Amino acid sequence: MTLAPSLSGDLARDPFADLKLQPPDALLSLIKAYRLDPRPTKIDLGVGVYRDGRGATPVFHAVKAAEAELLAAQDTKAYLGPEGDLGFLDHLSELVLGEGVDTSDLVGMQTPGGTGALRLAAEMAAMARPGTRIWLGTPTWPNHPQIFEQAGLTLQTYRHFDPATGAVDFEAIREALHRAQPGDLVLLHGCCHNPTGADFTAVQWKQVNALVLERRLIPLIDLAYQGLGLGLDEDAAGPRALFAAADNALIAYSCDKNFGLYRERTGALFARARWHADTVRSTLHFLARCAWSMPPDHGAAAVRLILQSPELSRLWRAELTAMRERLAAMRAAVAAALPALEPVRGQHGLFSLLPLTPHQVEALRRDAGVYMAGSGRINVAGLNEANLSDFIAALSAVGL
Ligand code: LMR
Repeated sequence: MTLAPSLSGDLARDPFADLKLQPPDALLSLIKAYRLDPRPTKIDLGVGVYRDGRGATPVFHAVKAAEAELLAAQDTKAYLGPEGDLGFLDHLSELVLGEGVDTSDLVGMQTPGGTGALRLAAEMAAMARPGTRIWLGTPTWPNHPQIFEQAGLTLQTYRHFDPATGAVDFEAIREALHRAQPGDLVLLHGCCHNPTGADFTAVQWKQVNALVLERRLIPLIDLAYQGLGLGLDEDAAGPRALFAAADNALIAYSCDKNFGLYRERTGALFARARWHADTVRSTLHFLARCAWSMPPDHGAAAVRLILQSPELSRLWRAELTAMRERLAAMRAAVAAALPALEPVRGQHGLFSLLPLTPHQVEALRRDAGVYMAGSGRINVAGLNEANLSDFIAALSAVGL
């Protein structure tokens, strides 16, 4: 057995000595903690995965049909380019940006999930201008700040959410956008805000878009839940308007939730670059080649087959509608059950942030087997008719 050198400074002999243990990812750790809990009454409101009324996360029927077609018809697995499946990108760009979108200065890249798209966007911004600032409303998905920092961006934060109203703190974002400097990035959640569920209203989107354009900021829109809020078109309306009007804009898109493709890592980055589309395209190809060379194919190929087939598209849209309606029904049931949770009704998507202290979150887990993020974020899809009353009773027991 070789003993590790004791001197951490001796980098030649011990090159990894200065690395630090990273804290385990809080959201991903919840999956494991829930799995290990033997209590049959446990409730999983942790990681953002859609669940049906029986608590399952089934593969969409539309995806199954597309996969069957792929299995029968795919005749090669030879490489695609760094931009991935062009048919996927064409069809997805229409879904995201609307039909008839101006594609003359549009660059599309298939990416490994929405995370890949965020990372690619951040790396490009840092390469264009090292240390570029990015404005984040807080709280946000905990992976956002670390992705952007690791890519070399400088974080600026403002308050997105007002716990007193359960809605957006609109004054805070207006003030932040006024403070931001031309060329700064601003991260916007396209819909179904993670972790609060508090989205901009249509009127607020108009005001945000006007400010972003006036201040010449670069919007980076994280659109990971299209169709799970108010509808496919409704959820994309604000981002579409901004993308259409901006000279430079980025959308990081995920098919994880709305196609149920989580582990297939299916996403895309769309960049609008009015004057430098060719340079942006070549930069994104280069960065993708350095990071993953080419994105995984399977999920994107399935999405392409769904979006290009009217029949599979109908089936997929119907499945997505059922998910959205179930989420809205659970939100209404939660709000009706506990007056303190009334804001949950008007929030959108998978998540709501409950007014709980870390101590209460811990007690819920320990005493009632209710698993949620430490921030008090719940995945509304983890609730169903069978567990709702237990959940409400557990909340009352910790004083909500
Ligand atoms: C979540 O926020 O729970 C999901 O987006 C899953 C993840 O990767 O964090």
